[in-house]
Amino acid sequence: MQKQGFGFRRIAAFSILSILEGKKIILGISGGIAAYKAAFLIRLFKKAGAGVKVVGTSNAFEFISRVTLESLSENKVYDEVFGSQNDYSTEHVALADWGDVFVVAPATANIIGKLANGIADDALSTSLLAFNRQVFVAPAMNCKMLDHFAVQHNIGVLRDQGIYIIEPAEGYLACGYEGRGRMEEPDEIFRVVNTYLGGGKKTLDGKHILVTAGPTRENIDPVRYIGNHSSGLMGYAIARELASRGAMVNLVSGPTHLTADGRVQLTRVSTAEEMFDACMKFFPAADAAIMAAAVADYKPETSRSLKIKKEGEPEKLQLTLVPTEDILGAMGAAKQSQVLAGFALETDNEEKNAIKKLESKKLDFIVLNSLNDTGAGFTHDTNKITILDNNGNVVRYPLKGKEQVAVDIVDTLAKHMNI
Ligand code: CTP
Repeated sequence: MQKQGFGFRRIAAFSILSILEGKKIILGISGGIAAYKAAFLIRLFKKAGAGVKVVGTSNAFEFISRVTLESLSENKVYDEVFGSQNDYSTEHVALADWGDVFVVAPATANIIGKLANGIADDALSTSLLAFNRQVFVAPAMNCKMLDHFAVQHNIGVLRDQGIYIIEPAEGYLACGYEGRGRMEEPDEIFRVVNTYLGGGKKTLDGKHILVTAGPTRENIDPVRYIGNHSSGLMGYAIARELASRGAMVNLVSGPTHLTADGRVQLTRVSTAEEMFDACMKFFPAADAAIMAAAVADYKPETSRSLKIKKEGEPEKLQLTLVPTEDILGAMGAAKQSQVLAGFALETDNEEKNAIKKLESKKLDFIVLNSLNDTGAGFTHDTNKITILDNNGNVVRYPLKGKEQVAVDIVDTLAKHMNI
C-alpha cells in the first residue's frame, strides 16, 4: 500500500463503506513518540461509527494529552487502576468486558514484554490481561530494540497466542536511526481491524479455500526425521486473512507451534503423504487453493520401526531416499475450475525457476521468494515476494510483515477468482 501521510483523504471514501456501527474498540497507548498517531487512529475508528475507549500508560501522556484523546474518543481516558476518577476499583475488568477488540498502538517493548509474561502493574497491562477477545499489537521502537532477542521472543509468544501483530514499517525513526521499527500508519492499522470486525467488504463470503502451511517430517526411525526450517507463519497468515474476508478455510498444516484462528478449520499432518491425502480430500470441493507448505521432495525408502543404533551399523550409514508425491502438481493435473496458487523458494535463477513451476504445475499464479533477499523466507516475520501469473504479469513487492504479505496474496487470489 502506498503510504501518503495519514491518508485521510484516501480513507474518507473507504470509511463510507465501513460498517463499524456499534463496534467497541479499546485503544491501548504506551509511551512512544508514535503515540501522537493514536489521535488519527481514533478519528478513523470514530468516522467508521465505532465506539472508542482509550487506556494509556503514564508515559503515553508525555507524548499526547488526555484532553486530545478524550475529545476525539468522546469518552474518558483510563490510566489508573485505583483512583478518584474510576467509577469503581475493578474498572479495568469492566473496560475489558466492554470492548470487542483491543488495539495496542503504539506498543513499546515494555508493554509487549509485560503482555507476553502476564505482568499487570498499570491500567493498560491489567486491562489487557482481563481481555479475552482479539488483541492487535502495533509495535513501535528503535530498530535495535526491535531486533533484540528478548523483544523478538516476546513478539513470538504473542503471535503464538493468536495476537495479531501489525508489523512495524521501515523508515526514519525518531531516534535518528533508519530501519524497521516505525509504527505502521493509522490507515493500515484501521484497515486490519476494520477487516477483522467485518467492516471491510467480505469479498470471499462462502468460498471454500484450501491452504497448506509448515514443513513436513519424513521419518527415518521412531526418533529421527528429515524436515526443514519452515515456520508455517506465511501459510497461517494467509489462512487468517482469507477467513477475515469471509472464506471457509481448510488449513492443512505440517508440524508447527502455531495455533489457528478460530474461524479456520485446521487439519494437522506430519508427512508429505498425510498432507497429500488431506489435500486430495478437500480439493475437489474447494474454489481455490494456496499451497504455502514446504513439502519434502524425498523421504527415506523405508522407515525403521526400531531406533537405529550405532552398534551393528556400518561406519558410513547410507539412507536411500525416494520421491514423495508432488501435491501441487497432482492438484494442477486434477483441477477443474479451481484457482491454484503455489510458492517457490529459490536461491538462484529465481524468476525463471518460478515460471517453470507455474507452467509445469498448471498454476494460476506463483508466489516467489528468494533466499538472497534479507528478511525473506522461512524463519522471518517478514517476507519479500514477487507474484508471477499465467497471463505473464509480474508484480514485485517490497519487504513487508507476513500479515501484510498475506493481504497482497489474497488480493491477487480474489482477482483471479474474478471477485
Ligand atoms: N509442493 C507440493 N508437493 C511437493 C513439493 C512441493 O505441493 N512434494 C508445492 C509447495 O507447497 C510449493 C510448490 O510446490 O507451493 C513449489 O515447491 P518447491 O519445493 O519450491 O518446488 P518443487 O516442485 O519441489 O521443486 P524443487 O524443490 O526442485 O525446486
